[in-house]
Amino acid sequence: MKKEIIKKHPLAIRWFHWVNFPVLGIMIWSGLLIYWANDVYRIGFGDTTLIKFFPKSFYDTFKINGRLSEGMAYHFLFMWLFFLNGIAYVLYTIFSGEWRDLVPIKGSFKRSWQVLLHDLHIRKTAPPITGKYNDAQRIAYTAIIVMGIGSILTGLAIYKPVQLEWLCWIFGGYKMARIIHFILTIGYVLFFLVHIAQVIRAGWNNFRAMITGFEVKKIKEETVAEEPKK
Ligand code: HEM
Repeated sequence: MKKEIIKKHPLAIRWFHWVNFPVLGIMIWSGLLIYWANDVYRIGFGDTTLIKFFPKSFYDTFKINGRLSEGMAYHFLFMWLFFLNGIAYVLYTIFSGEWRDLVPIKGSFKRSWQVLLHDLHIRKTAPPITGKYNDAQRIAYTAIIVMGIGSILTGLAIYKPVQLEWLCWIFGGYKMARIIHFILTIGYVLFFLVHIAQVIRAGWNNFRAMITGFEVKKIKEETVAEEPKK
């Protein structure tokens, strides 16, 4: 088996990707410092609570209590980095043409189910891949951009609900904008868990390519057919 080193991820994409990781981490952590001050969300009916998102022990263990102003300071500083890095990434993908590998194409939704079934070892063969990413990745990577836009807009709505009343209104009012902002955060955590599981599954070669930009491809050596004897 011959090996070939091929270019996979442009430098800009790698920078945007790796800057986003700690910045999003800081956004979620500082968001929690803020959420603590008005910890209202639960899943339940009437007076019965099925899920309270964060029990007191969680706040105590991670020392999240009583740090509202610190949380706000971090959140409102790093939101600019999150926003600028996101804008730069989207613009780069548009101008470089990378977007073609990142958006769903005809049949992506159908094939993404087949990818899922294949990943869960229910289906034997993986569906064909058009471009750099499989169809489940195309959907996930597009969804994460839409989520990012959603977080910025709902964030702005609850940051300045008086000045940006119209933005609050678009999201169904302050309360609704806050709920969407919170749900999107849960979405990032779920995306992250699946993303990491997939990266581990795909292996070292795939992960290394997101750092170095290059991937090692195994190529079957061509078998040269012997000339028939005359
Ligand atoms: C430790 C954390 C992370 C690791 C190890 C990681 C690893 C990777 C790898 C290896 C790829 C390339 C996948 C492939 O070639 O098949 C990738 C792509 C991607 N990841 Fe991550 N990732 C991490 C965190 C995140 C986070 C937090 C986000 C966003 C919320 C994210 C969003 C993306 C996106 C959008 C792509 C596609 C990039 C493009 O080609 O434009 N990743 N990641």
